[in-house]
Amino acid sequence: MHRSLVVTKWGWTQRILFYFMVAGTRSLVTVHQPPVLTAALGHDVMMPCLLNLSHDEGMVTLPVLYWMYLTQDNTDNPRLWSPSEKYEGRVELLDKSRNTSNKSIVLKNVQWADSGKYLCKLSITTQKAKSFRKKGNETSLKVYDTMIFNLTAHNDSLLWCEVNVTPDPGFVLSIFHDGCKLQPADSAPGDAGAVLPYVTFSDTVPLRSEGEYECQLHLNGELITKSIFHYHSPVADFDGDAAKNGSLTCPTTASEAAVVVFPEPWLLYMALLLVPIVILLSLATALLMYRC
Ligand SMILES: *[C@@H]1O[C@H](CO)[C@@H](O)[C@H](O)[C@H]1NC(C)=O
Ligand SMILES: *[C@@H]1O[C@H](CO)[C@@H](O)[C@H](O)[C@H]1NC(C)=O
Ligand SMILES: *[C@@H]1O[C@H](CO)[C@@H](O)[C@H](O)[C@H]1NC(C)=O
Repeated sequence: MHRSLVVTKWGWTQRILFYFMVAGTRSLVTVHQPPVLTAALGHDVMMPCLLNLSHDEGMVTLPVLYWMYLTQDNTDNPRLWSPSEKYEGRVELLDKSRNTSNKSIVLKNVQWADSGKYLCKLSITTQKAKSFRKKGNETSLKVYDTMIFNLTAHNDSLLWCEVNVTPDPGFVLSIFHDGCKLQPADSAPGDAGAVLPYVTFSDTVPLRSEGEYECQLHLNGELITKSIFHYHSPVADFDGDAAKNGSLTCPTTASEAAVVVFPEPWLLYMALLLVPIVILLSLATALLMYRC
């Protein structure tokens, strides 16, 4: 009846590969990490970091990897790799061989306090440029909790969806019925609370008819997580036909309805045009017959 799904997007790898091809020609040594990542509270998250080194830039020693958590004032940034005391046992390097270009790590059991910015940094020594440090572009980690999607306790004709997330204006919550977006009867847009590390998004919609309801959380247009609720009317065949017909099309809003264009009645135009033609023709024939 009710299940939760965690959706992971891996379109990022393609973008990275593309970036390699473009950026590789310009810069000799670059470090790449995704700008934004999301993680489910209590789950593990992989934070990618890739080193790109052009062929002619021979490394003298193996690069030294640092992963940092960037604090608000950017001082005393704790180190994730190699793990400082704070991250002991919670961080793992995915590719353990030091001469790999894949410097991704896994942060385990993500907590609200893990929301924030992360920097991947490498200390490199090459023949040409000697020793230097190269930074990635920072990854911003957003955390979200399990989505609740069920009938409200006080009214079982109202469907309610709620989720806690790291404060970010890019988050959007929406409810769909058989593919149509529903207008919430009541909605809390996730205003920042006073001391909590998260904000709560919640939407309530009235049940329209039987079928599949889906609550979706998006961040900057990308689906982060969703939950599905199947509704079967307790009274069999109650409003059955209306429900079936209703589910085929999304109801239009007032503004949409205003611009609905009716099909042109071409047949009527033709018929109207035929009337004078027929009259003219019969007049002409009558005239001809009269002359003869
Ligand atoms: C880096 O290594 C991890 C673990 O093997 C893998 O899941 C990930 O896809 C790798 N990243 C790239 C860009 O190859
Ligand atoms: C890093 O960010 C800067 C400024 O936002 C941008 O100009 C640069 O291209 C980025 N570099 C990478 C490797 O994404
Ligand atoms: C439940 O909500 C519906 C839709 O908003 C409303 O019409 C109905 O009166 C409510 N019922 C109760 C018991 O509050």
